[in-house]
Amino acid sequence: MTSFKSIAVFGATGDLGPFLVNALLESKSFSTIRVLTRSESFKEKPETFNDLKARGVQVAALDLSNEDAVVEALQGIDAVVSSISGSVITNQLVWVKAAARAGVKRFIPSEFGINSQKAIGPVFEKKRSVQEEIVKNGLEYTLLFVSLFADETLIPLFGFDIKKGTARLVGDSSVPLTLTYRKDIASFIVEILKNPSVSRNKALQVKSLQTSFDEIIERFKALGTPLKVSRLTVAEAQEVIDANPGTVESFYTMLFIKAAQGYMYFDTVDNGLFPNVKPSGLDVAVQEAIETAKQG
Ligand SMILES: NC(=O)c1ccc[n+]([C@@H]2O[C@H](COP(=O)([O-])OP(=O)(O)OC[C@H]3O[C@@H](n4cnc5c(N)ncnc54)[C@H](OP(=O)(O)O)[C@@H]3O)[C@@H](O)[C@H]2O)c1
Repeated sequence: MTSFKSIAVFGATGDLGPFLVNALLESKSFSTIRVLTRSESFKEKPETFNDLKARGVQVAALDLSNEDAVVEALQGIDAVVSSISGSVITNQLVWVKAAARAGVKRFIPSEFGINSQKAIGPVFEKKRSVQEEIVKNGLEYTLLFVSLFADETLIPLFGFDIKKGTARLVGDSSVPLTLTYRKDIASFIVEILKNPSVSRNKALQVKSLQTSFDEIIERFKALGTPLKVSRLTVAEAQEVIDANPGTVESFYTMLFIKAAQGYMYFDTVDNGLFPNVKPSGLDVAVQEAIETAKQG
């Protein structure tokens, strides 16, 4: 099967979305790149969307909960890539139905985390409900699991306060960890869209690198920024969560517990399907964290 040519992106201006749109543009492989966004988002940040337009991206601002409106906006599109926020994942259910009605061939839902087909928790149940809707509507899918974003892990919320020179680890920090840069995720998506048959109806695990928090601490030291490490047991981390329910801090502490328990590690990956993607290594994230701390 030849490359998909017309691509629609949901969530294009979030954390991950800009990397996807940039990679689609840079690949020069697609005749149409269309961003679908909520009307209110367009009003909030017109300069962001006007910048996309200036770069050749079509922008459709509409009521994304209106199935008929989404069908209209998806006319002529071959494949949808969604990077909608994990907090509103079931908003995609309408888009899946609309995509099928509009004649879209493939729907790549907003996954981009740990393997939602194996993980337990409300967000993963919601991600699975979207997967079921895609199959029910007769669309092709590709699910891309990436574990943690490599470029959003070495941050204060994750216990890495490089400005203060401290790191707070949770549990067994020698446990292996899989990380993927957002730029690399975008490269995998481009390859998926250029070679549709390779990833048709597949759930794929990819990575930029495998490491551990112990190795990360070592790399900071090797690159001239040793960190003073403090440690919480999993039970102590759970106390932090219980004392701060529903907070961002609790959310990240929960992620760290999951990492310490091995949930953020892929023992097998599908990188071999995409030989054109050349992922970055760990030092890129460590250097970036050091540079960010110097600037901020
Ligand atoms: N592996 C990791 O470490 C990691 C980290 C973060 C996220 N993720 C995953 O990556 C995917 C994308 O996450 P993200 O962080 O890029 O998302 P995000 O920045 O929070 O949001 C992406 C887009 O979702 C739409 N959106 C946000 N809040 C909304 C709301 N209340 N109602 C309707 N639409 C809303 C917005 O699009 P418009 O304004 O254009 O409509 C926004 O630009 C998710 O599946 C998430 O679980 C993984």
